[in-house]
Amino acid sequence: MVEILDHSELNDKLIQKIIEFKNLSWEHSYESHLEWLNTNLQNGDLHFFYMESSILVGYMNLVRIVVEIDNKPIPFWGIGNVCTRYKGKGDGLKLMQQVNKFLLSTSSKGILFCKKSLIPFYSKCNWIQIKNLHPNSDSNTFVFNYLPNEFYNLRYNDRLF
Ligand SMILES: CC(C)(COP(=O)(O)OP(=O)(O)OC[C@H]1O[C@@H](n2cnc3c(N)ncnc32)[C@H](O)[C@@H]1OP(=O)(O)O)[C@@H](O)C(=O)NCCC(=O)NCCS
Repeated sequence: MVEILDHSELNDKLIQKIIEFKNLSWEHSYESHLEWLNTNLQNGDLHFFYMESSILVGYMNLVRIVVEIDNKPIPFWGIGNVCTRYKGKGDGLKLMQQVNKFLLSTSSKGILFCKKSLIPFYSKCNWIQIKNLHPNSDSNTFVFNYLPNEFYNLRYNDRLF
């Protein structure tokens, strides 16, 4: 089951739940997680929860950003903080399948940045790798529901997520 909440809908209890879940993948102090949330997410961004038998097993954010295609700002959802409770049990794939469904059903495009070791994972999730648009040249860029065209000039100048 999927639950999607706008950032504006979060209360203290939900924030705690998100931070505890993210901390299973990225160990930082509670305050540091909270600062990240407050600094990087805005109302209109989404929290995407994936539950199985009422247990939260996957989580991610969808962030409202634009990609410049031939100098025109085109809305995309930026996908970030993708994480699962149990690693290597298939939940990451299921989580991504749910977000793919969301993107298709809302006719929206997705973009994500990841490190090299996750290229096989996102490829298995049916995302398409394009030339890197992230300012960090070590990063890798994937899109979903957008057909890359080598004749278009793509640039990313929006916030990092
Ligand atoms: C990355 C993450 C979300 C993947 O979820 P998961 O539940 O472990 O992945 P799954 O079990 O669904 O794996 C799906 C497929 O991708 C592959 N895969 C998953 N993680 C991989 C990795 N790090 N490197 C290579 N392949 C990987 C699996 O082997 C599997 O392939 P198979 O079906 O051929 O066996 C999860 O491991 C996680 O929370 N990692 C820590 C947080 C993180 O780094 N997030 C990414 C932010 S960009």
